Amino acid sequence: MRDDFARLQMEHEFAVDEVLTKVSILQREFMHLHQYNPIEHVTSRVKSLESILQKVAKRGIDWNPQAIRANLTDIAGVRITCSFIADTHRILKTLTSQTDVKVIEVKDYIANPKPNGYKSLHAIIEIPVFLSTGPVPVTVEVQIRTIAMDFWASLEHKIYYKYDGAVPDRLVADLSDAADAAEQLDRRMEQLHTEVRGAGSSAEAADTSDELEEELLLRLWQQSRQNT
Ligand code: GTP
Ligand code: MG
Repeated sequence: MRDDFARLQMEHEFAVDEVLTKVSILQREFMHLHQYNPIEHVTSRVKSLESILQKVAKRGIDWNPQAIRANLTDIAGVRITCSFIADTHRILKTLTSQTDVKVIEVKDYIANPKPNGYKSLHAIIEIPVFLSTGPVPVTVEVQIRTIAMDFWASLEHKIYYKYDGAVPDRLVADLSDAADAAEQLDRRMEQLHTEVRGAGSSAEAADTSDELEEELLLRLWQQSRQNT
């Protein structure tokens, strides 16, 4: 039994590694194509055995690894914090359209925020982890949000825990206002970003890299002449 649980956690750790690699590749390719970084930061975690068992007890799930695997979809979690709202949708789309990614569920809490103001894109995905015995499908919960949404969610989380879920009405209303302010900020920042990029900042970045490439090509060409 202990070994079964160790295996369960290990497989989810591998799945997190797979997703992190995918995200890193998307990020680097995006930088290459568009000369800007759509991802501010990425965090990940695998639920501790203690919190797996707590949730299993709370939900009345059977105490065996198969049932846990099938019913707990957030043992592995990856959170991607993006610069802008448009990037959250872009990242979700590119990630979930990969052929080895099976989408179990997508929840768009950006289009439909929770009543408290919580916003994020959630995707439950299944990806294969290749072990010595063959591929094992593993579920990962991916949360994608902007910096402003992330800032809001972490504060709300702290408040929720401080009051053990019974947040006073005044704070609930303040949090809801703060969520509106965060959304306004997101919109304005995105507008500014679009304006500035439209004014040619990306063209400048492209120019510099073109110059570098030309210099490199020239050197390679000179070297090849020396070698002949
Ligand atoms: P859980 O039992 O909490 O996993 O909820 P769920 O299975 O109904 O899924 P949902 O997609 O609503 O939430 C999954 C995760 O999103 C949570 O574990 C949190 O990390 C995050 N989340 C959802 N709602 C909120 C919220 O109101 N505030 C904050 N701070 N995080 C939230
Ligand atoms: Mg969940």
